[in-house]
Amino acid sequence: ENNLFKDIVAHAKEYGFVYQSSEIYDGLQAVYDYGPYGAELKKNIKELWWNTMTRFHDDIVGLDSAIFMHPDTWKASGHIDSFNDPMIDNKDSKKRYRADVLIEDKAAAYEKDGDKDKAQALLDKMGQLMTDEDMEGLRNLIIEEGIKCPVSGTDNWTEVRQFNLMFSTQIGSVADDSNKIYLRPETAQGIFVNFLNVQKTARMKVPFGIAQIGKAFRNEIVARQFIFRMREFEQMEMQFFVRPGEELDWYEKWRDTRMKWHKALGIPENKLKFHIHEKLAHYANAAVDVEFEFPFGFKEIEGIHSRTDFDLKRHMEVSKKKIQYFDPEISKNYIPYVVETSVGCDRLFLMLMCNAFTEEVTGEEGNEKKRIYLKFKPALAPVKAAVLPLTKKDGLPEKAREIYKQLKSMHNVVYEEAASIGKRYTRQDLIGTPYCIAVDHQTLEDDTVTIRDRDTTSQERMSIDDAIKFINDKCSF
Ligand code: GAP
Repeated sequence: ENNLFKDIVAHAKEYGFVYQSSEIYDGLQAVYDYGPYGAELKKNIKELWWNTMTRFHDDIVGLDSAIFMHPDTWKASGHIDSFNDPMIDNKDSKKRYRADVLIEDKAAAYEKDGDKDKAQALLDKMGQLMTDEDMEGLRNLIIEEGIKCPVSGTDNWTEVRQFNLMFSTQIGSVADDSNKIYLRPETAQGIFVNFLNVQKTARMKVPFGIAQIGKAFRNEIVARQFIFRMREFEQMEMQFFVRPGEELDWYEKWRDTRMKWHKALGIPENKLKFHIHEKLAHYANAAVDVEFEFPFGFKEIEGIHSRTDFDLKRHMEVSKKKIQYFDPEISKNYIPYVVETSVGCDRLFLMLMCNAFTEEVTGEEGNEKKRIYLKFKPALAPVKAAVLPLTKKDGLPEKAREIYKQLKSMHNVVYEEAASIGKRYTRQDLIGTPYCIAVDHQTLEDDTVTIRDRDTTSQERMSIDDAIKFINDKCSF
């Protein structure tokens, strides 16, 4: 892949954001761990999403449902029958690929060669075959297009088979098929099965929403692009229950609301776009993705789907429990329709890392200096401020620690006294700390400090009280 993306991935590892899982055992594919700064950033993303959804929308409440669910859940949702990826093996390299991804890559190659129409025609053809679940057609397309295995370079392909993406395990002590349960592939089903519980106990009236953040698991065949496609990841989903017939208005409302939210994270407008689904899943009557321009192209970060009454109806059929809502305003019983917003926390993380990664070259020709920093919006930054005494003597550390203590109860801040002040600034730039507060000899005389801005590197002198106010002000949303 491209060099910029390689640099971002290396940076994430080197500066304590993301590690390969089980690295000392040579890693586990498509599974990742978050380091100290990554964990902070991820927590900030989740907190912001949770607060926007629940606190700023009076008609949305939260939920935290279990990862394990009754196996019939997945029968009802359709995941057992149709949550599949088409998979193909190369007979020479014995490598396994997703048939649709091989075709997508070919389309990307056409596009790179300037043949946009050919790329689009190929994608359309593939889309139709996927919708028809025509596995033989997919294989034929791969052969027709002369697609070769990236490892062996041959086109000696097996047939295309459906591969279910759900992970399973056994519950209890007897390992037979009747005890088989799944790790949830989406958090949404925990919301659907709790619809009546939440509606009744929180006394909600349609239209209302339920928001949830939690882990989801998918046995992805192709593991690529770092944390873009993982086997264990976190989703932030919200199901909004509405009157039948009003779903498309709500769908448009949520589509626009979510786009605004992404822009408020500091993502420039030209790096975000909608991708409207023309071919819809069987349960949807409208669907759109929010896409971000990663270094490897525009890719989905969030899906907004009008899911009709498909899920509630299916749960009603399979569980044989009545799942209906009595709407007192119109004196009617109905199964609510659902508009869903579903975003991957890890994908947002990757988006923010890619957007923040900045390389700046300054200085005269022949004497250039390169500075790398992460330009996070201050409210999202893992560390909000670093308090740095200029030297380790003359009472400066003591004074700096006092300021550090005052800030620490409100924000994640650090205190550092080792190495030169310049090196300490650089270190904070690399993890994206927006402000550095330096304590020097003048501080001891007049209680003023300097605040250095990460993006401009300029420094401003102000009183300690003002500095604290400044940090509070700048680091909130
Ligand atoms: N409930 C709807 C649903 O799950 P989805 O499009 O399959 O829809 C929603 O997933 C979001 O979850 C995606 O937009 C993406 O951000 C995230 N996501 C899905 N699969 C992922 C994976 N393997 N790794 C990381 N994030 C993933």
